[in-house]
Amino acid sequence: MRPMSARKRIRVALVGCGTVGGATARILIQDKELLLRRSGVEIEVAALVDKSFDHARSLGLPEELFCSGIEPVLADPSLDAVIELAGGVEFPRTLIMRALDAGKHVITANKALLALHGPELFARARQQGLTIGFEASCAGGIPVIRAITDGLLANEIDAVYGILNGTSNYILTEMIHKGSSYADALEQAQKIGLAEADPSLDVQGGDTAHKIAIMSSLAFGISPDFAGIPVSGIDDLDEQDVLTGRDLGYVVKLLAVAHRHPQGVAMWVGPAFISREHPLAWVEGPFNAVSIYGHAVGHTLFYGRGAGGDPTASAVISDVLGLALGITPTIFAHTGFWPDRNGGATQLPAGSEELRFYLRIMAEDKPGVLAAISTILAREQISIASLHQNEQARGQELIPVVITTHTCTRQALDRAVQEINALEITGKEVVLLPIVDEHPEKIS
Ligand code: HSE
Repeated sequence: MRPMSARKRIRVALVGCGTVGGATARILIQDKELLLRRSGVEIEVAALVDKSFDHARSLGLPEELFCSGIEPVLADPSLDAVIELAGGVEFPRTLIMRALDAGKHVITANKALLALHGPELFARARQQGLTIGFEASCAGGIPVIRAITDGLLANEIDAVYGILNGTSNYILTEMIHKGSSYADALEQAQKIGLAEADPSLDVQGGDTAHKIAIMSSLAFGISPDFAGIPVSGIDDLDEQDVLTGRDLGYVVKLLAVAHRHPQGVAMWVGPAFISREHPLAWVEGPFNAVSIYGHAVGHTLFYGRGAGGDPTASAVISDVLGLALGITPTIFAHTGFWPDRNGGATQLPAGSEELRFYLRIMAEDKPGVLAAISTILAREQISIASLHQNEQARGQELIPVVITTHTCTRQALDRAVQEINALEITGKEVVLLPIVDEHPEKIS
């Protein structure tokens, strides 16, 4: 047997000892021998930094590592890397800049920070000859950053489609299978400890948008204008549409989409219908999945746990090992798709991508209603693909008219919907959901 290459050592400090930080520290310490055996790397945890150590104590982490400030860490000349798992934006931004200035590599799971300030942080790391590892920032334990920056390096990426928020996917799964309302499904998600007390970032699409911004910057070499990504969430989704979509052969998912077109990359986040046949349709409960389409490889699908302490710790630790083994520094230093070094593709204006759509219009049940609606759609050159009106609803003041369209832009549809909403014969606001139903291999 060939001898194993020389053992490598890396000394790290963790800042933030919450769910992910605690799990990372526990695995680094308890599984030190396993990690050494598998990677040839000996990881030494130098300090655990936090304001409170209740959680760290509950995990049995060694008290002698507890440190209540970052200064000793930044001043430690023998420290190789700072692992930032504190959360927030301003504190970690300053911490990471200071760690880089102090000559430490950085590993972070902070998606909001990278979505908003990634290019600036990458540029500083590059100036310093250092690396930022961020595998844990997107899709938790799924190694999707390494897939884009290493495994799929031979490809021009055509599209990235993701289910990137476990909380939202769990809620939608409850709504689809049990016919639950959004409110009941959210309550259930909170009861099992999945949804936060304030679930806004998850259910309103912000967390998903951060993740697709990061992945798109690597896949397409763009510096996404984060504010220019249209984002909607699942929090005003009506179970009526979830069930109608199911009857039409669709499953509703909170999708993140980044799709390359000849003019640029379209990006959006929101609830959408996908065909039951689409591989993303069977991603259920708290799981995440990312579909990546490369010009050579075709369709690939990455699936796994996108949240939680241990799965996210798995990604953080792979960055620690990647750093020690020289894998992530080599990728960071030599590859050309980083937004701080590559002009990359153009981001298309919001709503300019051609998609199919589902509309539910609450309308009076009388002559001329469909004519009025179809006239408005026709004026915007929007072609109707199917139309459904349930006879059972007869006699109600307003009945649901469900339309699916052929492809059109969201911009054109929004203009039409504004006019339909203003008709005297229609009631509540029109419900509008994109439909993504292409076969994975026929995406472009
Ligand atoms: N709260 C996220 C989720 C995980 O539910 O998927 C962290 O981004």
